Amino acid sequence: MVDSLKKPGFEEMRPGIKTPAKETLLTPRFYTTDFDEMAQMDISVNEDELRAILDEFRADYNRHHFVRDAEFEQSWDHIDGDTRRLFVEFLERSCTAEFSGFLLYKELGRRLKDKSPVLAECFNLMSRDEARHAGFLNKALSDFNMSLDLGFLTKSRKYTFFKPKFIFYATYLSEKIGYWRYITIFRHLDAHPEDRVYPIFRWFENWCQDENRHGDFFDAIMRSQPQILNDWKARLWCRFFLLSVFGTMYLNDIQRKDFYASIGLDAREYDIQVIEKTNENAGRVFPIMLDVEKPEFYQRLDVCLKNNEKLSAIANSSTPKFLQFFQKLPFYVSNAWQFVRLYLMKPIDTAATHGAVR
Ligand SMILES: [Fe+2]
Ligand SMILES: [Fe+2]
Repeated sequence: MVDSLKKPGFEEMRPGIKTPAKETLLTPRFYTTDFDEMAQMDISVNEDELRAILDEFRADYNRHHFVRDAEFEQSWDHIDGDTRRLFVEFLERSCTAEFSGFLLYKELGRRLKDKSPVLAECFNLMSRDEARHAGFLNKALSDFNMSLDLGFLTKSRKYTFFKPKFIFYATYLSEKIGYWRYITIFRHLDAHPEDRVYPIFRWFENWCQDENRHGDFFDAIMRSQPQILNDWKARLWCRFFLLSVFGTMYLNDIQRKDFYASIGLDAREYDIQVIEKTNENAGRVFPIMLDVEKPEFYQRLDVCLKNNEKLSAIANSSTPKFLQFFQKLPFYVSNAWQFVRLYLMKPIDTAATHGAVR
């Protein structure tokens, strides 16, 4: 009994290889796109900036960064019970997200090679970075006697198809939000070293600079295609992507608030800060940003959180499955309604300020 409490059991595919977490609406996704459409894009209006970013990627500032040091070489069995479960989950989710970036960028690098060499090289060098990030996280998982079979993940996951412009909105946001997530944790632990219970967080400062550069690359690519930023459809889609990225992160993180508490962070405050910063960044390239300062924004997300708690209580109950469906239905409807209302909240127009900011 005591032992099973100390070492939470994970389902294993093979000894030491963790069965990947079940895919849900809230788990990291794998993407694919229309490679021909991307290869035919004319990037000439912003080619200078893209080439400057390529030079930065080539400089490879983090080439010697992802090397583990002696601090890792100890037993991590004292991180046990629920905290251990949350740690493994955090590492797995992060590793899967990084790896998903690696796969997409690698494939783009390969498919664009002869047709769009500047973009192809940028994608290849970004896939180099993501491979390092995913590898470093997977190695960290092995400190908890677990790892992910990334080859299996490549073959077994479903791939979501997005047209290039949607890939740009989504990856831009995920890179920038990744930057703010890593740097916010780093700064907090730098100020409170007593909360740094595991060494990986020391790597986040340089690591997040990779994500920031990746985000800048997508910013530059979108500026090379002004037609995807300056019409009414762009306003609606940017609104949609901002809301899905922020909403998913908030629902995920608050549900795992104990993980953030284990490193001394309040998940809600942490998310609010990350959302505010990412929203500000996005407002410099997207024609709109969300009005996240309006209390309604988090109030509605909090209703979804409560709904999700009820949904998982129903799922874990002994009620027969077909009856569970009817018990769950009102909470699904409520979640959908909250998101519709969130989507309809008036955004902040940023297009007018773009000239001034740059
Ligand atoms: Fe990364
Ligand atoms: Fe990245």
